Amino acid sequence: MIKILLIHGPNLNLLGTRSPEIYGTSGLDEINARMKSIAEAGGAELRTFQSNSEGALIDAIHEAAGWADGIVINPGAYAHYSLAIRDALASIKLPAIEVHLSNIYAREEFRRHSVISPVVAGCISGLGWRSYACGIQAMIGMLQDRSKNA
Ligand code: DQA
Repeated sequence: MIKILLIHGPNLNLLGTRSPEIYGTSGLDEINARMKSIAEAGGAELRTFQSNSEGALIDAIHEAAGWADGIVINPGAYAHYSLAIRDALASIKLPAIEVHLSNIYAREEFRRHSVISPVVAGCISGLGWRSYACGIQAMIGMLQDRSKNA
């Protein structure tokens, strides 16, 4: 069975109450539950992880290399400057997809650039919780294609 790790970066534990006009009204538990059922419907197992700390996120990425087939990650603000998270994703041999709830390209200048995007398969931004849904479904499809072609 395909195994995917969904990672949420800093401040995403506050979803639901944090700037709902930008990030929506769904809480993190609600989004995780929705994503687990989407993954299950696609024949995949989804594990979720959230941390406000860069080191814990990097450890989770390293550990995923030992059990997961792919990573879907919302790096939060780390997307804009964490070369350490970028290096962690580039150092493991798992495909990754970056997601953002808000459209980072339509926001403040400092949010319009992601240092993570060059090392992931693709980036989905601006669709609210549906960015996660697209990310999970795309990851399942990519992994299925790989196993067919293997
Ligand atoms: C975010 C966008 C980031 O700029 C911001 O710092 C976040 C959330 C998003 O999902 O839209 O924490 O990653």
